[in-house]
Amino acid sequence: MRLRPLLRGAAAAMVVAGCRAPAARHHAGTTADPWVIGMSQCNLGEPWRVQMDADVRAAAAAHPELRVIFKDAQNNSLTQRAQVEELVEQGADVIIISPKEAAPLTKPVAEAYQRGIPVIVLDRAVQGDQYTTFIGADNVTIGREAGRWIRETLGGKGNIVELKGLMTSTPGQDRHTGFLEGVQLDSNPGLRIVFTGEMQWLEPDARREMESALATNPRIDVVFAHNDPGAHGAWLAARAAGREKSMKFVGIDALPHEGQQYVAQGILDATFLYPTGGPEAIATALDILHGKPAPKKIVLGTRLFTRANVAAGGQAINQ
Ligand code: FRU
Repeated sequence: MRLRPLLRGAAAAMVVAGCRAPAARHHAGTTADPWVIGMSQCNLGEPWRVQMDADVRAAAAAHPELRVIFKDAQNNSLTQRAQVEELVEQGADVIIISPKEAAPLTKPVAEAYQRGIPVIVLDRAVQGDQYTTFIGADNVTIGREAGRWIRETLGGKGNIVELKGLMTSTPGQDRHTGFLEGVQLDSNPGLRIVFTGEMQWLEPDARREMESALATNPRIDVVFAHNDPGAHGAWLAARAAGREKSMKFVGIDALPHEGQQYVAQGILDATFLYPTGGPEAIATALDILHGKPAPKKIVLGTRLFTRANVAAGGQAINQ
């Protein structure tokens, strides 16, 4: 009885200090009783996300002391939110999440974290700092490099179409910000963004947006899409209009069996690697489970693939 007010006081102090409850593992981390990692993927409709899950699965397969439960939110933030809550209830020892959108996933991530479950946020961020570690490439840098490549390739003159990803997700926001920095419209009056569309990361949406861009712009020199499915959708629209040879296409992701192949086939002119972070997420989860401190942020590198270097494996971008 006498403990109660004391406990309440301790809980209040923790809230004031912004601390989270100490981690309590549900499993032993042995082959017989492996640690459980809950992997919350925002969708599996895009090749890049299928690759991320495959990378997580392959990295975890080398560790019999780990078991991964995969959830697919099918591109719905409410579903993803419920799935994070399920993983907490199912006794996950670590949660890895690649959130669809920042705002709606912030609360469930913070709640899991405050309950003492380490949360690794992959590729798309949440708001605030109530998670353990963020892992991902720097999307501002990638956007800036794409903008620079376009400015230099066009020689500072030409008409640009930008097809943006989902703008409620951080990579869409950051790639756009970086792109504007890289193209330097202020000091290059010959460069113009003649059309901007939101394609939500999806090839069919990009194709539709590009049809509008083509209908209203007799001259387009380059299309920058925030991912390779978007760039490919734009190319399909341009080809249907018989105009694909008169413009360049730039994307992001550079999966070997997607963007890199599009470059090798002469469909895209450039793409930037966006690593999935799957292996790093498993390595970080293991560190946390072994009681080692994890950094708040792990930034992954990128590479540029063009027709000139794709066969040789692209070229590293210094950050
Ligand atoms: C897949 C994807 C990738 C993109 C990433 C950004 O859902 O759209 O193509 O690079 O998400 O988070």
